[in-house]
Amino acid sequence: MILGDCIEQYAKGLLILNSLMNLFGDYVSFLLIFRSIVGRNERLTTIDMLSFEFKNPVKLIFGEGQIEKLKEEVPQDAKVLILYGGGSVKKNGILDQVKVALKGNYYEEFGGILANPEYSVLVEALEVIKTKNIDYLLAVGGGSVIDGVKFLSSAALFEGDNPWDILSKRIRTEKGMPFGCVLTIPATGSEMNSGAVISRSEIKEKLSMGGPGLFPQFSILDPQVIATLPLRQIQNGIADAFVHVLEQYVTYPVDAWLQDRLSESILSTLIELAPRILEDPKDAKAASNFMWSCTMALNGLIQKGVPSDWGVHMIGHELTALYGIDHARTLAIVLEPYYKHQFEQKKEKLAQLGTRVFQLSGMSEEEIARQTINKIIEFMHSIGIPTKLSEYTDDYDGVDDIIAKRFEERGWLKMGERKDIGPAQVRTILQQSY
Ligand code: NZQ
Ligand code: ZN
Repeated sequence: MILGDCIEQYAKGLLILNSLMNLFGDYVSFLLIFRSIVGRNERLTTIDMLSFEFKNPVKLIFGEGQIEKLKEEVPQDAKVLILYGGGSVKKNGILDQVKVALKGNYYEEFGGILANPEYSVLVEALEVIKTKNIDYLLAVGGGSVIDGVKFLSSAALFEGDNPWDILSKRIRTEKGMPFGCVLTIPATGSEMNSGAVISRSEIKEKLSMGGPGLFPQFSILDPQVIATLPLRQIQNGIADAFVHVLEQYVTYPVDAWLQDRLSESILSTLIELAPRILEDPKDAKAASNFMWSCTMALNGLIQKGVPSDWGVHMIGHELTALYGIDHARTLAIVLEPYYKHQFEQKKEKLAQLGTRVFQLSGMSEEEIARQTINKIIEFMHSIGIPTKLSEYTDDYDGVDDIIAKRFEERGWLKMGERKDIGPAQVRTILQQSY
């Protein structure tokens, strides 16, 4: 419909141009008229901000020492299952803080939800939920624990026989078991959105799920947790949040001025804080800004009314499924070849990003757009993230075919904001990522 309108306007423009050229023969008039018609035509063909609805019911509790507020958020009569990862929350004392806050509640514990939450582990947790009649879940961890809890929230009320169907058949969760989060690592934004990504290593799958029933009831964000993070996880958090914004921004312009400015400000803030938080994770100012930026990058706000891509994530998830590479690092691998491949479609937003965030000037718009891709990759390197697949594995031969085939089999034929990325494009992009 929109494309049809564009073509019609373009044809009208050409007709008017033709008759005006007959009327005024001279060259100067032609140039002036051509400019005004093309200008007008551009305006008419510009796609405006998309319609949207926005509801994000998550109560965010942000700041130092806020974990004790748990007792006000978890219902007194709830039977709680506290879920966490491989043990960092035991070492850094966060689990103890949680238990102190919940001392008036009945609770059980389940640990061992590691990075890239594993389906088989979650099935064990589901068993605990059922046998102990749990009715409230509490995630204490990062994106992996929170995503695992989202899966459990859905699976606990799922009426089908096989909970894997929620992922493989992309069943939307309208209602889940209520849950809250204590975030221990800023990165994914999972604490304020309704999506999750679950892995099943036996079949090398990593699939997404979601639905309005999967927003946390509350999330507690205490920036002090950053002080105990290993460098690698801080690097990952910055990179993941950065790419979340890019996926929602580097598409095509729709005159969504506010969303663009919001996205640019998150990117600029991440660029500003990155050297400080990498140098000193105890830097309280940088930590607060880091944590809030990551949440804002994927809580739905900047995505409203604009097209979004997510192709970098779709391809990246496959690299985690096949090689176990950290989520954020897979994105860094895919970015450069993806943006080069999609350059024509994305160059206007790339140029805007280059001008406003990387302060590029004095070149043609096209050149600024190209330099912006270099700047993005330089930023990844500056935070210590390698951007070539060969820097993570030697075993990359043929991965382009394997992943392209997976997309084919799943019927993922039209990805990206213009639905122009299919298996053939995925193959070419991956060939440039080695
Ligand atoms: O398991 P433990 O021992 O807790 O150690 C974790 C884990 O090894 C450690 N860690 C977390 N907090 C810590 C800490 N270590 C010391 N001190 C702390 N305070 O960090 C490691 C990584 O944790 P993880 O939760 O895996 O990190 P992240 O938050 O980056 O989550 C990544 C997962 O989220 C998915 C990714 O695909 C990946 O599975 N994503 C989820 C999204 C969503 N739901 O919206 C969007 C993202 O694009 C992403 O796909
Ligand atoms: Zn991500």
